[in-house]
Amino acid sequence: MSLNTCVFDAYGTLFDVNAAARTAADEPNREVFKEVWPSVSNLWRMKQLQYTWLRSMTETYTDFWSITQDSLDFALEAHKLQNDLALKERLLALYWELQPYSEVSQMLKELKKNDIKTAILSNGSPEMLSGAVKSSNIYEVIDEIISVETVKIFKPSLQVYEQVENIIGCSKSDVLFVSSNGWDIAGAAGFGFKTTWVNRLQDPIDRLPHKPMHIVEDLTTIPRFFN
Ligand code: LAC
Repeated sequence: MSLNTCVFDAYGTLFDVNAAARTAADEPNREVFKEVWPSVSNLWRMKQLQYTWLRSMTETYTDFWSITQDSLDFALEAHKLQNDLALKERLLALYWELQPYSEVSQMLKELKKNDIKTAILSNGSPEMLSGAVKSSNIYEVIDEIISVETVKIFKPSLQVYEQVENIIGCSKSDVLFVSSNGWDIAGAAGFGFKTTWVNRLQDPIDRLPHKPMHIVEDLTTIPRFFN
């Protein structure tokens, strides 16, 4: 079996999760937020991920949009910004059109030129994912968008990775799974995908049972894995 399918995580991998807070911080009348936005954004993301794991473990699934709102509420309150409702609304609106990393479009075009099947496998709800894909103008170069909504449990449950085989109809040996989340890579590798970890910030490797097969600094070189 040869590698012919490239499956991407969405948030943090194709789409920059800090883009919403960074953009809002640059807007007029956001003096307080301008000072603290990196810390708010970081806590927002950390809580968002924690809530996915906790809700999976406790069998209290709710969709990723609700989790994104709950985690933002927590992060804003932790920075005493919970009364700035306009800021909250703005951050949530920006999350629907998160900027992709600069190399994403070109890299996907290269994969398609080489007849590689492309897909997203994400915790995101189908509506959020389709919003981000459309606003990034990559709709034409993504063949399949797979949301955890079909199984109602979050990554790294193996049931999620299994959806790639079920929905695309490929076998796990066809797949290169690409994510910037170390724990997601560990889950996907445990399931049996070949994996590439996008380590933009030179983080240490997660101390989990399955290590990444390849590590890259950004997405530029992804098409080379299919040569
Ligand atoms: C996703 C989260 C993990 O897109 O970033 O699934």
